[in-house]
Amino acid sequence: MKSLLKFITCGSVDDGKSTLIGHMLYDAKLIFADQKRALEMDSKIGSNDGGLDYSLLLDGLMAEREQGITIDVAYRYFTTDKRSFIVADTPGHEEYTRNMAVGASFADLAVLLIDASNGVMIQTRRHLRICALMGIKHYVFTINKMDLVDYDKAVFEKIKADIDKMMEEIEYDSLYVIPVSATVGDNITNGSDNMTWFDGVPLLEYLEDVDTEEQTDDTEFVLPIQRVCRPNSNFRGFQGQIEMGTVKEGEEITSLPSGEKAVVKEMYRCDKRVESASAGEPVTVVINREMDISRGCVLVNGNDTVTNNLFKGQLLWMDDEPLKTGKSYYLKLGTKKITASVLRIRYKIDINTGNHIACDTLVKNEIGVCEIMMSERIVFSSFKKIKALGCFILIDSETNMTSACGTVEHELRRGDNVIWHNMDVTRELREEKLGQKAATVWFTGLSGAGKSTLANALEKRLLMLGRHTMILDGDNVRHGLNNNLGFKEADRTENIRRIAEAAKLLNDAGIIVMVSAISPYRRDRKNAAGILGDAYNEVYVSTPVEECKRRDVKGLYAKAMKNEIPNFTGVNSPYEAPVSPDVEIDTTGRDIEECVDEIIEKLHL
Ligand code: ADX
Repeated sequence: MKSLLKFITCGSVDDGKSTLIGHMLYDAKLIFADQKRALEMDSKIGSNDGGLDYSLLLDGLMAEREQGITIDVAYRYFTTDKRSFIVADTPGHEEYTRNMAVGASFADLAVLLIDASNGVMIQTRRHLRICALMGIKHYVFTINKMDLVDYDKAVFEKIKADIDKMMEEIEYDSLYVIPVSATVGDNITNGSDNMTWFDGVPLLEYLEDVDTEEQTDDTEFVLPIQRVCRPNSNFRGFQGQIEMGTVKEGEEITSLPSGEKAVVKEMYRCDKRVESASAGEPVTVVINREMDISRGCVLVNGNDTVTNNLFKGQLLWMDDEPLKTGKSYYLKLGTKKITASVLRIRYKIDINTGNHIACDTLVKNEIGVCEIMMSERIVFSSFKKIKALGCFILIDSETNMTSACGTVEHELRRGDNVIWHNMDVTRELREEKLGQKAATVWFTGLSGAGKSTLANALEKRLLMLGRHTMILDGDNVRHGLNNNLGFKEADRTENIRRIAEAAKLLNDAGIIVMVSAISPYRRDRKNAAGILGDAYNEVYVSTPVEECKRRDVKGLYAKAMKNEIPNFTGVNSPYEAPVSPDVEIDTTGRDIEECVDEIIEKLHL
């Protein structure tokens, strides 16, 4: 069977990507006769002075042809006597970096186009970094439009030197730099009489011969489970696609994360029984004993995977909304989907220089190295060892958009080394001793809505009733525990997370806690509710903004409206009202003790 090369072409808008591939197909007689006729007809009304416009061959999408740009990932299949090819043609524009990343994730080799008159552009560097992030190890740089620089060897040599320099930062296995003219056809399928100084082979010949087989000697078998197949009570098969290695009937395998071992009893491909199966094949595996295996588990026979909830990885941020540390995203890795958040951004990478820049967010198209924490321990691997278990995407849980794609560098052991100690004295014991049930009453609402006043009155009343209480007030906590936080979105998220963790510790001590914090974002309150569990009670102090402005006890609204305070909630920063709070109180014109009665009654305090 002929080998298959999957490659991606990357270039800026006018570098001549489509023309290059189109020319290759045309010269190598790789297009069908009707396509040729259509091309000749289209070219008559197109550009290139009635000469064949090869780019029309590739630009299959209507919108591209209308706008003259490629807007999606177009996959083309062609075959020569020696090899079969799939090429992912992706748009060059920065705004389509997402599409490029998709194309790169599928490819083994990247053909990067450079316009000889422009040399290495920032776009080239971006494309190269994304290809590297996606694990591409084989690179071809085509210096195109050599005809426009008089086939000057010096121009080629200068660009080649820049490329060699740029490649110093990238891990790769093969590199080929070739001068071409896609319109004229120099060094595409045939050599070039115009550049006799170049002694390399033409592009197509190189692509036919280049060896991109991974030189791995490890044969670890890896099967991420997609589905459990139970047509009847006698049959239980675990289904998925083998990502690495080979498995045979009678072999011992380990199921992760549980670590339990079993022997492969039977295997099926579609409905055909098979004795062995290898990487790339979908299989149904039946084992010799009862084991709890579900989607997201991984069957292996080696030890290149880890089970943990914390790793360091590289991210390509693709969302219009910037990355927020601490925010919950969905993380999809292998067949597993769970919630996760970026704990910390170690640095972002300057596309141009490769320098590491300290930062607290990533915006669209930036690449950064981050620490990512998952809500549970899952099976993964470094991208270098097992691609399928080392790449992931982050999905915004509200918009369902893919916000980022990334690769795992390595696990972080912190999660492993910090072990939870179960103490003999439990929350329940402490509650019993204090004669009360611990709870957190979380007051949310605008500044000046009456949260602190209510929390204060409630605490006094509970004390009178003999309860043990504590109050965590946003303003006050910001003088100590949270004195390094401001009012930007990410800071507020962290503010709320810390307050919730502190409240939880107090609840563990058996204490009833009153929290008074604007907590303007719904997802932060949801996160707090997750931390506090059943103890969390939400009181929405819904006093309207007009009333808060009228009261303006601290004089902050007046300042904010004069633009003297940035990000002031209710003026130039949003407040997302709770949808179904446990209690809602508008303090306008109400007696405070009456409000306290209502809270105690509704929350059974
Ligand atoms: S939260 O949004 O992170 O929950 P928190 O309740 O801790 O805020 O702190 C809010 C208090 O900080 C307000 O009552 C007000 O006194 C003060 N403050 C100062 N700057 C701002 C601002 N930009 N937005 C809101 N409150 C501010």
